[in-house]
Amino acid sequence: MCGIVGYVGPKKAAPILLDGLRRLEYRGYDSAGLAVHDGREIEVVRAAGKLENLASALEQRPLGGSTGLGHTRWATHGRPSEQNAHPHAAGDVAVVHNGIIENYLELKHELQASGVRFASDTDTEIVAHLIHRALEQGAPTLFVAMRQALGRVRGAYALAAISRREPDRLVIAKNASPLVVGVGEGETLCGSDIPALLGSTRNMLFLEDGEMAELTAGGVRIETVEGKPVERAPKRIDWSAVQAEKGGYKHFMLKEIFEQPRAVEDTLRGRINLDEGDVVEAELGLDAQAARTIERVVLVACGTSHHASLVGRYWIEQLARVPAHTELASEVRYREPVFGPKDLVVAVSQSGETADTLAAVKAAREGGARVLAIANVLGSAIPRASQGSLYTHAGPEIGVASTKCFTTQLVALLLLAVHLGRRRGTLDAERGREILQAMLELPNEMRWTLARKAEIHQVARHWHNAPHMLFLGRGLGYPIALEGALKLKEISYAHAEGYAAGEMKHGPIALIDENMPVVVVMPRDRQYEKTLSNLQEVRARDGQVIAVVTEGDAEAKKLAQWVLELPKMPELTQPVAAVIPLQLLAYYIADLKGTDVDQPRNLAKTVTVE
Ligand code: AGP
Repeated sequence: MCGIVGYVGPKKAAPILLDGLRRLEYRGYDSAGLAVHDGREIEVVRAAGKLENLASALEQRPLGGSTGLGHTRWATHGRPSEQNAHPHAAGDVAVVHNGIIENYLELKHELQASGVRFASDTDTEIVAHLIHRALEQGAPTLFVAMRQALGRVRGAYALAAISRREPDRLVIAKNASPLVVGVGEGETLCGSDIPALLGSTRNMLFLEDGEMAELTAGGVRIETVEGKPVERAPKRIDWSAVQAEKGGYKHFMLKEIFEQPRAVEDTLRGRINLDEGDVVEAELGLDAQAARTIERVVLVACGTSHHASLVGRYWIEQLARVPAHTELASEVRYREPVFGPKDLVVAVSQSGETADTLAAVKAAREGGARVLAIANVLGSAIPRASQGSLYTHAGPEIGVASTKCFTTQLVALLLLAVHLGRRRGTLDAERGREILQAMLELPNEMRWTLARKAEIHQVARHWHNAPHMLFLGRGLGYPIALEGALKLKEISYAHAEGYAAGEMKHGPIALIDENMPVVVVMPRDRQYEKTLSNLQEVRARDGQVIAVVTEGDAEAKKLAQWVLELPKMPELTQPVAAVIPLQLLAYYIADLKGTDVDQPRNLAKTVTVE
């Protein structure tokens, strides 16, 4: 998500830190900052917006010193601003952080009760105060104080800290967010990603979860958080700068497809209360009273976000027993739609800036509806124009074709459906718990599906020259079929259509012959038998079937020419895994055709025009 770089050595730290941050710019960020120990004090310079703003601020206030930290922020808690930019300082300590502190509210209240005043809205500042407090209470070193602070913190973090009292060292810690150490000649660095360090060294070692390290110019000392010493030799990284940006993947899109289990974990983090079978979500601003007065839910979105909304509609109707409709934002804005105070309008948008969706939000608010945004970019226009928001924590998505934003939108929509169901009394705690438990299993089910990439690649090799492809699905599989077709057309330029399987005999069946590949999304669910009949109809006309099925589906294996498997999993959460084979199929086909996968022709990542 955010970018971290740290330096300790004989050179001036600030130019090295700025260079490291520039190498991370491709990931996207909303603000940046440096903290450098000048031998006496720690000086912090931060700026909202682009790195040039930070560079200009540094010209005004140059930072001396040869130990320091740098950070580019992608906001998750607290809007993008200079005040919320990292590093965050408390007493003698400055800290940068990637990840999400789950129990930050609880810790913030505790610290506030003991007189601490916060200078930002971030979860990170809590860590700075915890370390400072540990030092005040007698922790002998920054390393020990960091360990004590980590004992209080739950969540995902890559942390780096410096202390005024120890000018010659950095202390870092990792749990569920990447952290790399660069071991140079008489200098040591750390970074959230390999590219940040490539300007100084290619000798790197990777911290594991539950480890912390002390970095000095002479090298690195690693321990587990429990205090067990760890020996690890650096490895030489031969990646080019471009390869490093893509994490060794050929394209950002492929990297983002494989990041999905982590993105889903981050989107769920801190939002599930299994004991109560409920969703913990303060930002939604929807209490039981408000949830009960809703008589209709209208989901507005475009493109991939619209497909996520189609899945959301099923979930909301099923779990919250309230009529739910989906609207293409580009259509609804011109229709003089009727909205009222008993409507909950949910605007779904990865960028949070799509012009049509924003216009639909404004129309809904004018009609008196309550509007809730599901977005990936904190503080973007759509959440700003809405009364509540539920952020997907997918991190920056660079590939124009949306993948990890789609699956995290699904997760956010299912959280919303559970939230509504629990407050409206249509979902009891036990069923709520079952669904939330199923959501917690998603990352592993997604990893299982991703591990079958070789079979998907085989299908792509066979069909990459096909001019057309049809995608069919029923129920929750229908929006997934639509999304599979959209992915394929966006990046491979093949003509692809998604259809409700039950609609096939009302038209598209005329297209079927031996040259037509048909992808049938048919995991084991309540619609399975009916979708199987559609598959038979395709086969009877010599259509070529690629079936996306639950593992061990012998029936489908007999009938389909190609089978792409999903793990056995609950019906409700299946769409989140079922889209993965289709994303990979589109990716491999496009790659075999040699198209510009990350920036397909005519498309933009954020569509701010009508
Ligand atoms: C997705 O692959 C597309 N690039 C596109 O359909 C996108 O989903 C659409 O433009 C909506 O964008 P948003 O989610 O940022 O609002």
